[in-house]
Amino acid sequence: MKKQFAGLLALMFSGAVMAESITSPSGDIVLEFSLSESGRPFYSVSYKGEEIVRPSSLGLELSGRPSLLDGFVRTGFSRGSSDETWAPVWGENDSIRDAYNSMTVSLMRPRRDGAEGPDRLKLIFRAYDDGVAFRYELPSQTHNEFKIKEERTQIAMSGDHTAWWIPGDYDTQEYEYTKSRLSEIRALREGGVNYNLSQTSFSPTGVQTSLMLKTDKGLYINLHEAALVDYPAMHLNLDDTVMVFESWLTPGLEAAKASVTAPFKTPWRTVTVSDKATDILASHLILNLNEPCALEDVSWIKPVKYMGVWWEMITGKSQWSYTDDDCSDLAAVDYSTVKPHGKHGANNDNVRRYIDFAAANGFDQLLIEGWNIGWEEWFGHEKDYVFDFLTPYPDFDIKALNDYAHSKGIRLMMHHETSGSVANYERHLDRAYELMNRYGYNAVKSGYVGNILPKGETHYSQRMVRHFLDAVKRAADRHIMVNGHEAVRPTGLCRTYPNLIANEAAMGTEYQSMTPGHVTILPFTRLQGGPMDFTPGIFRMDIGSFAPGNPNYKRATVANQLALYLTMYSPLQMAADLPEHYEEKADAFRFIREVPVDWSESRYLDAEPGEYIVVARRGKGSGDWYVGGVTGADARKYTLKLDFLPAGKKYAATVYADAPDADCYDNPEAYVITEKTVTSKSKLDFGMARGGGFALSLKEL
Ligand code: NOJ
Ligand code: CA
Repeated sequence: MKKQFAGLLALMFSGAVMAESITSPSGDIVLEFSLSESGRPFYSVSYKGEEIVRPSSLGLELSGRPSLLDGFVRTGFSRGSSDETWAPVWGENDSIRDAYNSMTVSLMRPRRDGAEGPDRLKLIFRAYDDGVAFRYELPSQTHNEFKIKEERTQIAMSGDHTAWWIPGDYDTQEYEYTKSRLSEIRALREGGVNYNLSQTSFSPTGVQTSLMLKTDKGLYINLHEAALVDYPAMHLNLDDTVMVFESWLTPGLEAAKASVTAPFKTPWRTVTVSDKATDILASHLILNLNEPCALEDVSWIKPVKYMGVWWEMITGKSQWSYTDDDCSDLAAVDYSTVKPHGKHGANNDNVRRYIDFAAANGFDQLLIEGWNIGWEEWFGHEKDYVFDFLTPYPDFDIKALNDYAHSKGIRLMMHHETSGSVANYERHLDRAYELMNRYGYNAVKSGYVGNILPKGETHYSQRMVRHFLDAVKRAADRHIMVNGHEAVRPTGLCRTYPNLIANEAAMGTEYQSMTPGHVTILPFTRLQGGPMDFTPGIFRMDIGSFAPGNPNYKRATVANQLALYLTMYSPLQMAADLPEHYEEKADAFRFIREVPVDWSESRYLDAEPGEYIVVARRGKGSGDWYVGGVTGADARKYTLKLDFLPAGKKYAATVYADAPDADCYDNPEAYVITEKTVTSKSKLDFGMARGGGFALSLKEL
């Protein structure tokens, strides 16, 4: 007994003064941990000798018991390392290497409030070649209930970096990004840029992750989180007097931001770093930090290329709703007696037309929105009961349409818009999924537009983070894939639950006139956590030409829209435009028909956030390559070297490029398609238009 106690004292003493560090397998990244004199934990990070994160403190502020901020002594320390390779169910590559060195620091703090038993906390650190990660672990201890008032994780920047940011909104990521110095964010926010100060649902001085940064020395840094489970999403508040970020958890209705029971691990806090922008895009840090696949049978999970009865509603050509009659009391409406307004998109004839087109062109699925009753009163009414997710409109024959689709070799995709009435959705979920199983749907697009009910709940709170994952797990039990819109931004959970096939959680094509640079930022930010249902493939850019009265223009060229199937990686890709617009440009549509949505190999060739991205990918189990390049607000000349191709082989290339006079504002639909034979020695010159790009298919001869 006595000996053990003496050993513990020695350990406690050494813990108070000693710093420990781990190095990434390559040796480029070093993470150092130390405890200050007052027992406060600190860490710092360097890359190739450059300071990336200055000494930054760690801790948890608690309510109802003393906070876990300082006064710690070290009671344990261990090191570890791992080097494994795993195969994702779907992805950018056949296999992913997961190699890191780690350390775990066990901390203890005597109870000062006279209560029995010490408080215990563990800090787990990992250094990978593409970045570092750390998390808090609350091990099982005398008192296991923790109410977390705030997480106090600092990330101290080494300078006034350039940032691509969106504000710390608790409910949405549907913003364009602002590029500015860190020191400019405050004034831009107060001036109303991307931020409405009259709203209260924002972190005080914060931005959202994934946050992309660039230092003046040309280092690329990305801050995000991985494995967000049972905890609120993290925003980053910035103290711009010292350029220190501090975590700010999303509040919900409860007083504590997170209530957890030990043993518990927080999500990982991540810092991805490289001197090459392409390394940030190629990083698998977030996936590697997530748990391996939790599903035994994954044979039913399949990448999806789909069309939808969708863009025609988004643009206003048709409607989700069925009638203009009063339907405010959904339970009392008899839809067989109301007067149809005649603009309902999800009607039998129209759906059949889309099924014919999608099936004839090799698509896997067809999404139909507005199939179910309730759309007359869905938006902004904040009613608990808006949809039942079960009852089709009278002109949507759910059985006949599914049978028809199946007879043509495709499936329908379900749509569940909750309009934020989450308790209502949870009440109906089992029956809603059961209905899907009954008719042969295996994928659902869910949506959470508007304020979450009850009032005061937020989209990114602990309560909602639980809901989103629960909906995915319950879907897995029924062999259903989930594409969640307006859900919390992804943190790599698709590794563990690969039926989470995509998310929205950013500004996508539904914002019809977003600026051209947006698609050159998303892969550096939103896509770090997982694939996005961006819904590319718009071919008719003057939207008013088919949706009378709509003033919007798509600010992109046709070649740019094709390239997005490569630059915006997702195993779920939509061809968002209308069948008739694809018929008009059948030669360009060929690329969308042919491009795979699952890959054996991906090479990011060139990139700069906000400027351009060029990527080459080899189809799953195939020798054929596809290349996509997009540029933002500037036209750009680009020479593509095909040296990623295996030497000695010949390929039939189909090249889809902007026409010389193309321009996303003035002449967006001008493109040129050429065919040639190429090898690994070939070079192709492109003149990318503003908001333009290029796309290539390379078929092995
Ligand atoms: C917003 C989604 O992002 C969009 O795709 C959908 O059509 C509407 N909500 C209606 O559910
Ligand atoms: Ca949306």
